[in-house]
Amino acid sequence: MKLIPITHENVEQLAEIMAELHSRAFTIATPKGNESWGLESILTSLSQKGVFAFLATSNEDIPMGFVLGRAVGANDKYDGEGEILTIAVDPVNQGRGYGQQLLQQAIVKARKVGAKKMYLEVACDNDGAIGLYNKIGFKKIARRKDYYVRTTAVVDALVMEKSI
Ligand SMILES: CC(C)(COP(=O)(O)OP(=O)(O)OC[C@H]1O[C@@H](n2cnc3c(N)ncnc32)[C@H](O)[C@@H]1OP(=O)(O)O)[C@@H](O)C(=O)NCCC(=O)NCCS
Repeated sequence: MKLIPITHENVEQLAEIMAELHSRAFTIATPKGNESWGLESILTSLSQKGVFAFLATSNEDIPMGFVLGRAVGANDKYDGEGEILTIAVDPVNQGRGYGQQLLQQAIVKARKVGAKKMYLEVACDNDGAIGLYNKIGFKKIARRKDYYVRTTAVVDALVMEKSI
């Protein structure tokens, strides 16, 4: 497995690959279309302050998944904090440790920036992602009712936190 940081130099080449991975991993229909982010959203996120991403590939350079996160360091009032904005692993390669490696890499990155806590949101019925977050040590701290609007249902979000 290789973990490639997304930089100014490689973003043009890799953002499309990330968008493709995202559309394969996020397939639930919503009234606004499919829940996946698309190239524009990924590029917009990456242009924002404190946002970082890593692409995971196989040793043969086949794209497997990516994580997009944000982290800010401390100031005189607040501790630094980070969040996972999205994480996606190609469905045919899920369950092989890529998600865990990506999440851990995002935590390392956030810690380097000075974050002391990491946050994320997840749909309450997303057992795979919740299983991963529990394994890494995230704890549920809040529930946002009716947060994700899908074509067939409306589901709550869990907010999870981990000290890092
Ligand atoms: C969530 C996701 C990123 C996990 O990536 P992954 O590469 O499949 O996960 P890993 O193989 O690294 O799994 C690590 C651990 O997570 C847990 N886990 C993973 N999939 C699970 C599942 N379906 N059910 C329960 N636990 C699961 C397990 O504890 C696993 O450890 P183990 O293999 O030792 O049991 C991936 O399933 C995905 O892209 N899902 C679709 C997009 C998505 O829902 N993203 C998160 C939105 S918040």
